[in-house]
Amino acid sequence: MSSENESNPLAIIGASQVVTLAGPARPRVGSELRELSIIERGGVFVRDGLIERVGATAEIEKLIDSNTTVVDAGGRVVLPGFVDAHTHPVFAGTRVDEFEERSKGATYAEIAARGGGIQSTVNRTRAASLDQLVETGKRYAQWFLRGGTTTVEAKSGYGLSLEDEVKILRAIKKLNEETGLRYVPTFLGAHSVPPEYRARREQYIALLVEEMLPTIAREKLAEYCDVFCEQNVFTTDEAWKILSAARCHGLGLRMHADQLSLSGGAQLAAELGTATADHLEHTDEAGIAALKRANVQPVLLPGSVYALGSSRYPAAREMIDAGLAVVLATDFNPGSSPTPSMTMILSLAATHMKMTPAEAITATTINAAYSLNRGDQLGSLEFGKIADIVIHDCDDYRALAYFFGIEHAWRVFMRG
Ligand code: NIG
Ligand code: FE
Repeated sequence: MSSENESNPLAIIGASQVVTLAGPARPRVGSELRELSIIERGGVFVRDGLIERVGATAEIEKLIDSNTTVVDAGGRVVLPGFVDAHTHPVFAGTRVDEFEERSKGATYAEIAARGGGIQSTVNRTRAASLDQLVETGKRYAQWFLRGGTTTVEAKSGYGLSLEDEVKILRAIKKLNEETGLRYVPTFLGAHSVPPEYRARREQYIALLVEEMLPTIAREKLAEYCDVFCEQNVFTTDEAWKILSAARCHGLGLRMHADQLSLSGGAQLAAELGTATADHLEHTDEAGIAALKRANVQPVLLPGSVYALGSSRYPAAREMIDAGLAVVLATDFNPGSSPTPSMTMILSLAATHMKMTPAEAITATTINAAYSLNRGDQLGSLEFGKIADIVIHDCDDYRALAYFFGIEHAWRVFMRG
């Protein structure tokens, strides 16, 4: 990653393609998902961390003077940084042991039922200090940046007590300040009911609504609230209570919906008018129609489908045909989706969800930025936007989805 002096203008020239994603100032739907607004043999000029000009290399060269830092892209592809709109990047330890068990046939649900799964990460995360969480978080921040991701939505959810959820959100705040990566924090205290509340779950809901949410809102530790709405996790009634309370505290709303079963998640997201409904592997036609009516953005997470060894990918084509502003994200977490790689997600989307490479790029940049209320600042290369720019080492953007198992990012610029 580079950190050129902000006062030094930056000129990127000689790109085979500048994939600008310029277009209407709103999330892209239908055939718009395929319109990348590519400038061949282009460049970008950055001043004070903002994009000043995007155009042909010849045009950019005219702006260069003795103060300008010039980077020759050498025929490579230039894109806005990926915006990963669904991650769980702060946790202690790994679940390599459970991964091995699953490789021998155990299922995610079985492991969770005997106290493993999310709970095993909660145990380790509760035992870790804030500094330890920041330390491991920094390692993952480097992974994201190395792959060309410049913004992540970051959920708490491995604390499940006031103290531990606050610790995770403070770690996210520190990571935002101390790494090059940009974080948008989400409170996910409703990730699971911790064992000490299993016999009195309504008291955990009360803790979420009456203590955790007011504290987190007062300390401005999160912009969004999320709930894992699923059979045996949180019911739609519980999710409604938690999300309605979050809205009263001024938080935006997101939801884990219909991941492992059709459990009314998409319908509830529509009823509440959440910003996003995430996962949606089991969502039916009626659910898709409800999301459309309520203008909810689906956030599809094929990494978790792949890593759980499932073949039930979400119905991306039907969602695009229905006019939904589809987003793709990694769901980076230690259980169901241990990948920070957006290019892996592009590959899965093209191969298993029949999204074209162009649609997948739109879903990981401009549409993702809008889902985080950052569409006016991030997600495309347009005048006045924040200069989070990545040069990828290929000469055609489709190669990002086509070659898989490698990262293509060659230079990553945060604010120029
Ligand atoms: O998005 N669905 C719930 N939460 C995560 C999994 C978290 C974990 O297994 O640690 C997900 O898939
Ligand atoms: Fe998730």
